[in-house]
Amino acid sequence: MKVLMVNGSSHPNGTTCTALLEIGKTLAQEGIEYEIFQLGAAPIRDCIGCGRCNEQGCIFADDCVNSFLSLAKEADGFVFGTPVYYAHPSGRILSFLDRVFYSGDKIFAHKPGAAVAVARRGGTTASFDVLNKYFGISQMPIVSSTYWNMVHGNNGEEAKLDAEGLQTMRNIGHNMAWMLKCFAAGQEKGIPMPATEQGQRTNFIRL
Ligand SMILES: Cc1cc2nc3c(=O)[nH]c(=O)nc-3n(C[C@H](O)[C@H](O)[C@H](O)COP(=O)(O)O)c2cc1C
Repeated sequence: MKVLMVNGSSHPNGTTCTALLEIGKTLAQEGIEYEIFQLGAAPIRDCIGCGRCNEQGCIFADDCVNSFLSLAKEADGFVFGTPVYYAHPSGRILSFLDRVFYSGDKIFAHKPGAAVAVARRGGTTASFDVLNKYFGISQMPIVSSTYWNMVHGNNGEEAKLDAEGLQTMRNIGHNMAWMLKCFAAGQEKGIPMPATEQGQRTNFIRL
């Protein structure tokens, strides 16, 4: 079993990474593999709503969206981590996730996800809410913790001083591992995947 995490910061070793590594450490203790996918500092396009998503994912192949989708197919769970910018997630992770989910949402159905927001001081719960919405529309069970999933610090070293934040991250790891093991046990017992309906797209109602 493997959890794929996204570092939505351009800092590969900053606060977001410290938070994700704490989750990863716990997952490893629980016998679950993990990988941190770094968005890095290179430009990431926004979705232009062209509707030309294809088998590979997004029509634009000049950034990391499609390589992430390939990894996501093999992953069993996800953690999306973001720094707070002006009380919202980084534009980088929103551009990335809009294209990932618009072109590949089926990959994520019934795989658990957790969102993490880090900040110097404020805007974490608003950012956390935004990331959770990708899970909510994609049939993804949401992994919670013992506080809302946030770590405070202005950089990776400061984040290590937020004892409650790190505890919250470890508990995401424990809860994610438990959920993955329960799903695997259910599959072994032959419990079928949910028969969810598709097809209705009621954009507006005509009386
Ligand atoms: C453009 C920008 C906007 C920011 N806005 C906020 C904010 O609204 N609230 C806050 O507490 N910190 C804010 N910060 C600080 C970062 O959230 C904080 O430094 C965080 O630890 C960075 O995470 P990283 O090291 O993973 O990039 C902002 C930083 C930048 C660069």
